[in-house]
Amino acid sequence: MIAIYPGSFDPITLGHIDIVERGAMLFEKVIVAVLSNPSKQPLFTVEKRIEQITQCTKHIHNVEVDSFVGLTVDYAKLHDAGVLLRGLRVLSDFEKELQMAHTNKTLNQEIETVFLATTKEYSFLSSSIVKEIAQFGGAIDHLVSQNIVEDMQQKYLDNSD
Ligand code: PNS
Repeated sequence: MIAIYPGSFDPITLGHIDIVERGAMLFEKVIVAVLSNPSKQPLFTVEKRIEQITQCTKHIHNVEVDSFVGLTVDYAKLHDAGVLLRGLRVLSDFEKELQMAHTNKTLNQEIETVFLATTKEYSFLSSSIVKEIAQFGGAIDHLVSQNIVEDMQQKYLDNSD
């Protein structure tokens, strides 16, 4: 069974990588699919995010990285995937995630959403938190991998003048 792990990943965090690693043990292949959303102003371009995720997941043999526009279920169908993989951190995630899972089920009954409980030590972690800390010069090396630390430093240095 192929699983799609869809998300914004702006940028990918250690919490996301944990979900990819564990998903890759459960499924034949995990496709990390970056949503290209024209209505959002991301920190990193889709191309950069694909490069970052590829670097962070290169130790996992059955992972692919891609981007998509439109509906996740349509992308999943196109790739013969039967599962949408999502991480659940805390109770407050549940409402939005359940709504998405139900919506996706109405759009395509054959595709199941599978939730993995985020590892406890990353339950507070989000891409937004990483961006907030990084823009004020705080340490993020315990939250993201080294290539992302460097990309974030570069980004905020570039924007500092
Ligand atoms: O990392 P995020 O921003 O929480 O990921 C959200 C994502 C990309 C999974 C969700 O917004 C999504 O699936 N968008 C694609 C549009 C879609 O399929 N919408 C219907 C389900 S609500």
